[in-house]
Amino acid sequence: MKNDVNRQFRLKSRPVGRIKTSDFDLVKAPIPEPGAGEALVRVLYLSLDPTNRIWMSDMDQYMPPVEIGAVMRGGGIGVVVKSNTPAYQVGDHVSGLTGWQDYTIAGEKPELRMGVIPKGLPVPLPAMLGACGMTGLTAYFGLLELGQPKAGETVVVSAAAGAVGSVVGQIAKIKGCRVVGIAGGPEKCRHIVEDLGFDAAVDYKSADWKKKLAEATPNGIDVNFENVGGEIMEAVMARMNLFGRMPLCGMISGYNTGEPMRADFSPILMRRINIRGFIVTDFFPKFAEGARQLAEWVAQGKIKHEETIVDGLEEAPTAVNRLFDGQNVGKLIVKVADPESQ
Ligand SMILES: NC(=O)c1ccc[n+]([C@@H]2O[C@H](COP(=O)([O-])OP(=O)(O)OC[C@H]3O[C@@H](n4cnc5c(N)ncnc54)[C@H](OP(=O)(O)O)[C@@H]3O)[C@@H](O)[C@H]2O)c1
Repeated sequence: MKNDVNRQFRLKSRPVGRIKTSDFDLVKAPIPEPGAGEALVRVLYLSLDPTNRIWMSDMDQYMPPVEIGAVMRGGGIGVVVKSNTPAYQVGDHVSGLTGWQDYTIAGEKPELRMGVIPKGLPVPLPAMLGACGMTGLTAYFGLLELGQPKAGETVVVSAAAGAVGSVVGQIAKIKGCRVVGIAGGPEKCRHIVEDLGFDAAVDYKSADWKKKLAEATPNGIDVNFENVGGEIMEAVMARMNLFGRMPLCGMISGYNTGEPMRADFSPILMRRINIRGFIVTDFFPKFAEGARQLAEWVAQGKIKHEETIVDGLEEAPTAVNRLFDGQNVGKLIVKVADPESQ
C-alpha cells in the first residue's frame, strides 16, 4: 500500500504493566523530504523486541529512554525511494533504527546512518532482522564470546523458542554441545527438539519443571544463556558447574513489573560462575564477521530462521505484547509495507 502520509506512533505515556494502545498517539505526519546527503526510506518491516518495552520506560537503561511525544524507537528494514546521496541508491534495502512509522530519513550523518543490505543474499528480507540480523548477532556473540562453549558441555538457554534463544541453541549444537532449551508450553518444547535439534526441552509452565530441568542436565550446566531472569534464572544457576559461564542477555520476566530483580548470589561464589551482562552493540567492530558466519550457517541449513509476521503498522502496539505472552515463535516482526509493491 502506498501512503501519502507518514503514520507515526508517538509515545504518549510510559506504560504501567502491559503496553496499551492508549500509551501511543497514532499521528498522520507529512512524508519527510530528504535534504542534501539524505535519502527517504519507506519502512517495510519493523522488528519488535523486548527492549522496546525498556525504551518506553524511564528505568536505568543502555540508551536514553524514548521521550514522551517522540516517535517510538524501533529497528527495521526499509527501501530507499528517493535519494540525494550516493551512499543510498533508490531501491537499496537498508536496516537500522527506522522507528514505528511508514517513512524515515537515512543520511550520511552518524545519527542518520543505516546499513545497506547487500543484494542477492540467499535469505528473505525478514531473516535480516532475525537469524541473520541483530537477533542472530546477539546469539552469536553472547554465546561464543562470553559463553565460550566447548564440545560436550551442557548449554541451557531460556526463552528457547524465541528469536535469540532459538539461534543460541542451534549454534551450541553446531559447536557440539548438549543443548537444553527452556520454553513455555508443550508445542514450543516439541518444536525446539524435533525441528531445531535441541537435545531436550523443559516446559517451565509444567508443575514439575525443576525436576525436568535436573533430569535434562544430569552432568550439571556449563553455560547458561540467560534471557528471562527471575525464578528460571535461579533454578538454572543452582545447577551450574564449577567455573560455569552465564552470558546475561535479557531478563524479560521483569520488564513489565518495574520491580528490581533479586537473585540468590551464593551459587556465583560457591561455583565461581562468570556472569557477564552484554548488549549486542558491544560487539559492533566484529559484526561483519558474525553476519557472514550466520548467513553461511543459514544457507547451509545448519540454522533454521523463523519469523512470526504480523501485518500492518497499526498492529505494532498490540503485537509487541506477544513477546510477553509468548505468542511468537522465532523473530516477531510487523510487515509495514509490501516489498514487491514499492
Ligand atoms: N543484550 C542484548 O543485546 C539483547 C538483544 C536482543 C534481545 N535481548 C534479550 O533477549 C531476550 C529474548 O529476546 P528476543 O528478542 O529473542 O524475544 P523472544 O525470545 O522472541 O520473545 C520473548 C519470549 O520470552 C518468553 N517470555 C516472556 N515473558 C516471560 C516470562 N515472564 N517468563 C518466562 N519466559 C517469558 C516468551 O516465550 P515462552 O512462550 O517460552 O514463555 C516469549 O516468546 C529478552 O530478554 C531480550 O531483552 C537482549
